[in-house]
Amino acid sequence: MRGGAQSHLMRCNDGEYYVVKFRNNPQHQRVLVNELLGTKLAEHLGLPVPPVRVVEVRQELIENTAELVMQVGNAREPCSAGRQFGSRYPGKPAETAVHDFLPDEQLDDVENLGAFAGMYAFDKWTCNTNGRQAIFFRGPGSARYQAWMIDQGFCFNAQNWDFPDAPLRGLYARARVYDGVRGMDAFEPWTARMKRTSEDGTLDQMASAVPLEWYDGDLDALFALLERLVRRVARLPDLILEARNSYRRPFRNWT
Ligand SMILES: Nc1ncnc2c1ncn2[C@@H]1O[C@H](COP(=O)(O)OP(=O)(O)O)[C@@H](O)[C@H]1O
Ligand SMILES: [Mg+2]
Repeated sequence: MRGGAQSHLMRCNDGEYYVVKFRNNPQHQRVLVNELLGTKLAEHLGLPVPPVRVVEVRQELIENTAELVMQVGNAREPCSAGRQFGSRYPGKPAETAVHDFLPDEQLDDVENLGAFAGMYAFDKWTCNTNGRQAIFFRGPGSARYQAWMIDQGFCFNAQNWDFPDAPLRGLYARARVYDGVRGMDAFEPWTARMKRTSEDGTLDQMASAVPLEWYDGDLDALFALLERLVRRVARLPDLILEARNSYRRPFRNWT
């Protein structure tokens, strides 16, 4: 697949297709932690994301598949075996076209466009230091597009887990997706859910499902990350307002 992590599209033994990020991707192995934790968290909040799984890739498969390599500079190394991160492809690649971008006119045909506001609140909470990324596809028999929010790899600031907030971080490149935003009301149902989620033990539960080898078993670092998430929830309205007031004015209808 395109992208800095050099993911691979693979069919898994549940019969579904997954975009698999490997531990030895050129970014960092912690992006797998961010993907699993971040996407599960977004799913729990009711945001549209792909189903994600821990995918076991056998050594034998890597040895017998010439394409399963990472290109790092001029060097090539085999993809790592064992537990990796998988993000489900919507349907079958031969039947379902997936778009990384849609032109503005077609964004109006996206059924769940309102979810971009919720995802912005999520990206503020998790301090996603990448722009927001999504894929668009039409389900079987549907005339309209669905958006799925993908690539949570740079939530918590990639491998740094240090939350360097800045107003424009986490925004989607097209302002059109935020045209439904007319005030803080657009974000409040989402930030309320985030607050509840930070208090009900969900975070610990999700963290315990992350393979230890993805973060070298550094439980102290993982727990520190969760603690900071809990503390940050109270600052969400301020973080959102900073973006609203920034020179780029990302929310055109919030006057
Ligand atoms: N669940 C998915 N279904 C279909 N395509 C996907 C999915 N996840 C990622 N992709 C595709 O793979 C590309 C790379 O994935 P991404 O998560 O953005 O990794 P990177 O960290 O390399 O940017 C995306 O641009 C998108 O085209
Ligand atoms: Mg990406």
